[in-house]
Amino acid sequence: MLHKSTNPIGIFDSGMGGLTVAKTITELLPNENIVYFGDTAHTPWGDKSTAAIQAYSIRICDVLLQHHCKFIVIACHTASTAAFELVREYVGNKAHVINVIDPVMHYIEKHHSNKKIGLIGTKQTIRSNTYKKRVDMLNRDIDFVALATPLLVPLIEEGFAENEICETVIQEYLSRPGLADVQALILGCTHYPLLKHYIHKFYREIVDIIDASEMTAIALKEHLGLHNLLKLEAPSKKIFYVSDHNEFFTNTAKIFFPGDIQLEPYPLWE
Ligand code: DGL
Repeated sequence: MLHKSTNPIGIFDSGMGGLTVAKTITELLPNENIVYFGDTAHTPWGDKSTAAIQAYSIRICDVLLQHHCKFIVIACHTASTAAFELVREYVGNKAHVINVIDPVMHYIEKHHSNKKIGLIGTKQTIRSNTYKKRVDMLNRDIDFVALATPLLVPLIEEGFAENEICETVIQEYLSRPGLADVQALILGCTHYPLLKHYIHKFYREIVDIIDASEMTAIALKEHLGLHNLLKLEAPSKKIFYVSDHNEFFTNTAKIFFPGDIQLEPYPLWE
């Protein structure tokens, strides 16, 4: 794999949620060129089958590889659980691939041995059991509990992230007996960092809220450094592709990335 530091970083997600990851990446690595792909035609992925998520992910990787991405970041937790191995195999030596789960595992290993840890995520993420298997592999005597919280994504996408309706739903979910006494909670979905204020409020700041978007950006920076692929100088270019044009994505992208952004439709199956 022969890359230049000026080659872009490809970031993909089922839709707009991955913008939380793209945002932390661009804050930490402002000089990097970015190609973001949001599969707005098929979102949400959280209720889809493993086979469907794998097919979408591979198709998107083709687009990112056409742009000669040096790294591909699977920003979506659902895709990180369902398609990481396949994507890595498919991409082979054409690009480095990272997901949002590995950085969380490193953090947990370092800070949360012998503790009770909760995970919230989409149905597919929880059903896959990937986080549980990965935590068990750490062998750190961690009591792990997971809860699917499927109402949160539509609430955010319908604009209720700052509304008390969302706070009520969070209270309902986080009060479930299984999650009692957790000492850390993994936000296992791209959208949930947008609800951190309510989650902190529920736990009165005493539970460690694990935000994969921050950890993934830090891990990416380390990997880029390791491979001598850090782009050290401005300017940088950002392209945002969506498989189906929708105003919600456009508006959200403009909130996350104010100023001049290049937003382009890219139908996937033509
Ligand atoms: N991006 C997805 C995730 O992180 C959430 C939205 C969806 O279900 O597509 O799991």
